[in-house]
Amino acid sequence: MDTFSLIQISDTHLSRERPDFVPNFAIAADHIATAKPDLVVHTGDIAVEATARADDLVHGREAMEALGTPYRCIPGNHDVGDNPSDHGYVPEKRVSDPLVDTYEALFGPGHWHLDMGGWRLIGLNAQLFSSGLARATVQQDWLADTLADSDGRPVAIFCHKPLLRDALEEPVDVPYRYVPLADRGPLAQAMAGADVRLFACGHVHQARDHRVGDTRHIWCPATAFTMPDEMQPRVGDKRCGLTEYRFSPMGVDVQMQFPAAMTHPDVAVLRSVYAV
Ligand SMILES: [Fe+2]
Ligand SMILES: [Fe+2]
Repeated sequence: MDTFSLIQISDTHLSRERPDFVPNFAIAADHIATAKPDLVVHTGDIAVEATARADDLVHGREAMEALGTPYRCIPGNHDVGDNPSDHGYVPEKRVSDPLVDTYEALFGPGHWHLDMGGWRLIGLNAQLFSSGLARATVQQDWLADTLADSDGRPVAIFCHKPLLRDALEEPVDVPYRYVPLADRGPLAQAMAGADVRLFACGHVHQARDHRVGDTRHIWCPATAFTMPDEMQPRVGDKRCGLTEYRFSPMGVDVQMQFPAAMTHPDVAVLRSVYAV
């Protein structure tokens, strides 16, 4: 396989009990059925709120299976709980071993790698950063080894949260938005031993495509919804959609897609299902 296609979807926020965002997922699923990518990667927040309803993830898995394509997932804060972060941020619904175990029973390991078309693709569980859980150390050690033995392949990392806004060391505007500052150093040190071309995330519900050093950072648009500026400051493009990639030995082509039929729910709906 010299080239391969991949579609990234993110932040689908699915729930059988709160199906507010299912119509947008159906539009993404139609797009995937037409494009027939070699792989779909879901970068987390599969569920509306799995810490409250485990069935949200069961429903999410059913939706992913129904795509009929090979897929990999990584968890988001609404799938396994959130991690502590900068400025003393302590999440109301904190990541825990039982929550990660429930996720992994449905979707497989929270971190993984795949070698395709000369590339190494890596998925990370962003919710483990600064969590204090033993599995966070296991993931960090695994990541360092997996990057160190990438043998010169270009690497793409998928992670629910952005690594940074503009720089590894920077004043952090929203503490729960990014990889915590304390975790960026070890992560960057591991990345320095490999040719990391792409760092693709979700979580922000804003689309963004920017480059820092040799790495292109893609903030995949959310499938489910965007938030108005009064609820969330604007950094990127507030449209719903998905991201298409074409990987080749020469590099990667990135095309964000914003299907016009994807709708934006009423603010009252957002406030009820997504506490901000
Ligand atoms: Fe989300
Ligand atoms: Fe998130």
